[in-house]
Amino acid sequence: MPRPIQATIHTEALRHNLARARQAAPDSRVWAIVKANAYGHGIERVFEGLRGADGFALLDLEEAQRVRALGWRGPVLLLEGVFEPRDLELCSRLDLWHTVHCDEQIDMLASHKTNLPHRVFLKMNSGMNRLGFTPQCYRSAWTRLNALPQVDEISLMTHFSDADGARGVAEQMAVFAEMTRDLPGERSLSNSAATLRHNLSDLADSQVACDWVRPGIAIYGSSPDFPQHSAADWGLQPSMTLTAKIIATQALSTGATVGYGSTFVAEKPIRIGVVACGYADGYPRVCPTGTPVLVNRVRTHTVGRVSMDMLALDLTPVPDAGIGSAATLWGCAANGLVLGIDEVAHAAGTVGYELMCALAPRVPVRVAD
Ligand SMILES: Cc1ncc(COP(=O)(O)O)c(C=O)c1O
Repeated sequence: MPRPIQATIHTEALRHNLARARQAAPDSRVWAIVKANAYGHGIERVFEGLRGADGFALLDLEEAQRVRALGWRGPVLLLEGVFEPRDLELCSRLDLWHTVHCDEQIDMLASHKTNLPHRVFLKMNSGMNRLGFTPQCYRSAWTRLNALPQVDEISLMTHFSDADGARGVAEQMAVFAEMTRDLPGERSLSNSAATLRHNLSDLADSQVACDWVRPGIAIYGSSPDFPQHSAADWGLQPSMTLTAKIIATQALSTGATVGYGSTFVAEKPIRIGVVACGYADGYPRVCPTGTPVLVNRVRTHTVGRVSMDMLALDLTPVPDAGIGSAATLWGCAANGLVLGIDEVAHAAGTVGYELMCALAPRVPVRVAD
């Protein structure tokens, strides 16, 4: 018998969330961001739900090959571009579009031998200070690229650092708009937070068409700005559910403790359930007592430290639960009740992204409609 733990990928939720992104940016084409193995879901598992996207954007060449192996003939974009010259051969062979964010990548392109000129996305560092040419160097990079026979079309892109927060996108937008004003080419700017929270065409002075949006977390049904907005507030549905069964129960008397470090002390007699899920499955060890869990349509919470293979729950609100009862650690319970991955992430002091990406390889995954 395998351990009673399972992750489920919800194809219909992916489809729904993609449609939600389209609805938020009706004049844009949509890249489905599938980097990090589709945010931990598995590229092959999300493909059916996301094949309605206009393109797939990711980082690894190996992941790009997997998207092509699925039969996808549309656009595929490498968000960090190439890492070494020979990567360009694969770009030519698989018709991969790639970001160009530094002079070294232009040098590589200039030495690349190909009859098929490449579509590139020239990245501006408009304030994120991660990848991209500074606004001052951007136009000279464009001119250099434009002169290369290896380059076909140049699109323009940037990435927002604070689309989910108070600072917003206006400053970066203003820089980007100013420095690209008369450059030809399609524009790609918005991640999930910018797509859902900011109507770029409304920003004063921007005049920037957003030809391509780049939603990631939203298509996986997690909120880009939790707790300000929940996924439900944005009309998003969970694309990943993690469930595990209760494999033991214990009746605790007052003063009894639970788990390593005895961090939980029963203040009254309680019954606890021990669930076959621990940090080796991807459930964060740092989740404190009180982290929400669903059992039999009822919301309860963890008690004590999460251990490698198990965690404990307070069964007081679910007296009918016992060995074999299913606990929903995040996502959709059988009755349609939802426990947002963002709530669990918040309890762990992190974001839904990290929990999805950390789903452990040992957890069996099934794909549902
Ligand atoms: C360049 C770029 N575009 C888009 C995204 C998608 O962001 P999100 O998952 O917040 O929508 C990312 C994610 O980090 C990114 O690095």
